[in-house]
Amino acid sequence: MKAHDSLTPFQQQNHQLMIGDKTLSHIEMLVGRTPFYVYDRVTLAQTVKQLKNALPPEISLHYAIKANPYPPLVNFMQPLVSGFDVASSKEMLLAIQSGMPANEISFAGPGKTEDDIRAAIVAGITLHAESLTEINRAIALGKQLALKPNIAIRINPAFELKASGMKMAGGAKPFGIDQEQLPSILAELDYQALNFRGFHIYAGSQNLKEAALMEMHQKTFALAEELVAMTPVPIDYINIGGGLGIPYFAGEQRLDLSLVTDNLASLIAQYSTLKDIELIMELGRYLVGEAGLYVCKVVDVKESRGTTYAVCDGGLHHHLANSGNFGQVIRKNYPVVVGNKVGCSNDELSTATIVGPLCTPLDILADKVPLPPIEIGDYIAVYQSGAYGATASPQAFLSQPELSEILL
Ligand SMILES: Cc1ncc(COP(=O)(O)O)c(C=O)c1O
Repeated sequence: MKAHDSLTPFQQQNHQLMIGDKTLSHIEMLVGRTPFYVYDRVTLAQTVKQLKNALPPEISLHYAIKANPYPPLVNFMQPLVSGFDVASSKEMLLAIQSGMPANEISFAGPGKTEDDIRAAIVAGITLHAESLTEINRAIALGKQLALKPNIAIRINPAFELKASGMKMAGGAKPFGIDQEQLPSILAELDYQALNFRGFHIYAGSQNLKEAALMEMHQKTFALAEELVAMTPVPIDYINIGGGLGIPYFAGEQRLDLSLVTDNLASLIAQYSTLKDIELIMELGRYLVGEAGLYVCKVVDVKESRGTTYAVCDGGLHHHLANSGNFGQVIRKNYPVVVGNKVGCSNDELSTATIVGPLCTPLDILADKVPLPPIEIGDYIAVYQSGAYGATASPQAFLSQPELSEILL
């Protein structure tokens, strides 16, 4: 089974891939060109709703804007989730302007400058401090501004999220403060100089193994209980991280959410010491990744020593992750279709390699995939492209034309 057979939320009509009532050609007319990213609000809303229904009611859902900071999408997500996590001052401005209340916005990420911290204090959002230096900077700036900074501490736990696309904890990491350093930091913190909000325990990203997520949650709750016991003031929240992944490649299975959410419910029942504290789950790609398509157009079809190449007007510079150059060890194909020839029978398919216009062998959209016969002018649509697309790609590389984005 091709990955997209089990994944796609998008319909087809007369061999045309449809986003709502629009074909890709309609969308090209709307935005004025290819390539473009298109994000589907129906899928976004359904994904959030399904997850919220599955999660225990004690858990609030936050969206990590880094996954997709397209302003109309951020604004659309605002009423659907309880809060936003931002990773820069610019994302903070997006979050504030969406109307998200300041006390539901957190700012994580190492290397916050004085300007970042000052802006966050003035905005009244919560800084997820990644080091003692950041805490001290925030206290000093708060005194200068006569405003108490809202601070939570990001922990680098001693455990990791096993089998993750990206491990962000366990061992030496530039993220958060090592769990072992917390007893002395919490004992010495000047709680009068700040509004201490809680802890952020983020262990990893893009995980499709229920058992690994369950183990991470169990260790997170145990650590949270220890931290709360060490903290001399009441706290508002524990951010238990995220890590829920989406299937990108053939053979990957969607998460069985019920295993993860049942486990969370039993941890909530078990850890009664945490019962008055808000629990936050922070997710990026799980919420938006499947709601987006990247679409480009075939500008040339050529044969080279037995391989058919379809050369497109878009590629690595717009969608680095799909090209396999965003941290992947082995390149695999995202689900790809010819958007104006979907649903062709299997005997019409032949193998083609889809490449972009950049003069580098890294610029691959799909390597040796079975597709209907490709012609110049066809639309290539890459699924699972709603997260880490436009802003996670080197768009200025080779000074190619810009791409468009649209939320429909
Ligand atoms: C602190 C933090 N929060 C949230 C995320 C979002 O991860 P994902 O998009 O996989 O949910 C990341 C990813 O690196 C992160 O570092």
